[in-house]
Amino acid sequence: MYVFTLTLFVTLVIQQTSGFKEPECSRYHYEEQILERVVRMGMEFKYQKKDVTNILETVAAKLDAFSKELQVLKRENEELKSSLRDEVQISISDLEKVKEKSFLPIVFFNSKNVADTTVKAGHTIVFTETLVNDGNAYDNTTGIFTAPEDGIYLVSLHMCVKNKQNLYYGLVIDGKESLRGEMYEYRAVTCNSVQQLLTIKAGNRVWIQVYVKDAVLLQSAIHWNMFSAFLLNKG
Ligand SMILES: *[C@@H]1O[C@H](CO)[C@@H](O)[C@H](O)[C@H]1NC(C)=O
Repeated sequence: MYVFTLTLFVTLVIQQTSGFKEPECSRYHYEEQILERVVRMGMEFKYQKKDVTNILETVAAKLDAFSKELQVLKRENEELKSSLRDEVQISISDLEKVKEKSFLPIVFFNSKNVADTTVKAGHTIVFTETLVNDGNAYDNTTGIFTAPEDGIYLVSLHMCVKNKQNLYYGLVIDGKESLRGEMYEYRAVTCNSVQQLLTIKAGNRVWIQVYVKDAVLLQSAIHWNMFSAFLLNKG
């Protein structure tokens, strides 16, 4: 109404000042058109405003729902991430355990020759010339091999005894014999080999000992006396 009055006033002022004269009926018609248009615009505006409000409300509701969904997704993602982290952690520690179990360190020594070919009863035979000592478990000053791991070991002994000499020997683990035997040759000179598969605990000491009486060994470029051990399997 106010807009209409203003328009009417402006129209009148323009007509007065310009001195423009129009037929009266035409002027009413024009004013009527303006009025109609203003009313229509007002109504349109009202409808448009209502539409926009509706749309805004719908959008707001959708945004709200979306944001809630996003929160749920975020939470799920966090849960998934942490459970995945746990799973990976478990797999890694499992793998480490498997690796630890399956990893076989190289434990292998091979030592030959004695310093004195007369080996004495009750003494350890010390094989001084170390050819291999992987794992550094054999001591060539004492003749003692100290097992670095629990496991199954192949222990072997190769001795050459002088003709008509008896060598009573024992394979000893921490003071306890795991094998006893005698080597004797009457007519010829031969060397003898002894092998034993043994379960040995880490830290246990293994050596070759002479029993009963002293014996004289044969030792030359073609007669070797030798002591060796090899870790076959852990556990
Ligand atoms: C005795 O063992 C030590 C240490 O393993 C080594 O360095 C040395 O060469 C060995 N001696 C002989 C004569 O093999």
